[in-house]
Amino acid sequence: MSVRRAGPADLGALARLHAAAFDPAWSAGEIAALDAVALLEDDAGLVLVRTVAGEAEILTIGVRPEARGAGVGRRLLEAALAAALAEGAGAVFLEVAEDNPAARRLYAGLGFEEVGRRRGYYPRAGTPTVDALVLRRALNTTP
Ligand SMILES: CC(C)(COP(=O)(O)OP(=O)(O)OC[C@H]1O[C@@H](n2cnc3c(N)ncnc32)[C@H](O)[C@@H]1OP(=O)(O)O)[C@@H](O)C(=O)NCCC(=O)NCCS
Repeated sequence: MSVRRAGPADLGALARLHAAAFDPAWSAGEIAALDAVALLEDDAGLVLVRTVAGEAEILTIGVRPEARGAGVGRRLLEAALAAALAEGAGAVFLEVAEDNPAARRLYAGLGFEEVGRRRGYYPRAGTPTVDALVLRRALNTTP
């Protein structure tokens, strides 16, 4: 499988992939309204990246549970970085929960560095809230 750019016909597939990776899931309409570049690996995962005024943001990246640990996340993120660079971004930002080791390792492996922290950003059922780490990756360097 390889990463490809999603078109309007892929909105349903994007919503299904998001639902497989996240709860709550985003609907096809919500995804369309984000007006982001969407990339997917069919039946495996998706990433949404949006560039505004030379700065890109990873809005979401998710891989189906059964497809994890096989490099899909890395391929999607690399493709999102390339898409952001092509759109003129000089840097890419994202937020990740402090208690998400898989995502943190993925981002660290592609050169993202912590530049901020939002305290108590993520609610957790029955447990204390979790901080969001704000990560940044410059696009004029290799990781
Ligand atoms: C985070 C996520 C996208 C990673 O996708 P993936 O396809 O499993 O990632 P890859 O196989 O490309 O692995 C990327 C790196 O993460 C590491 N990794 C993957 N799963 C891991 C886990 N459960 N614990 C620790 N590290 C993990 C891999 O070892 C690899 O690191 P390495 O290159 O140093 O060996 C996936 O776990 C996911 O969809 N999680 C739920 C949604 C989510 O949390 N998204 C991110 C929100 S900010």
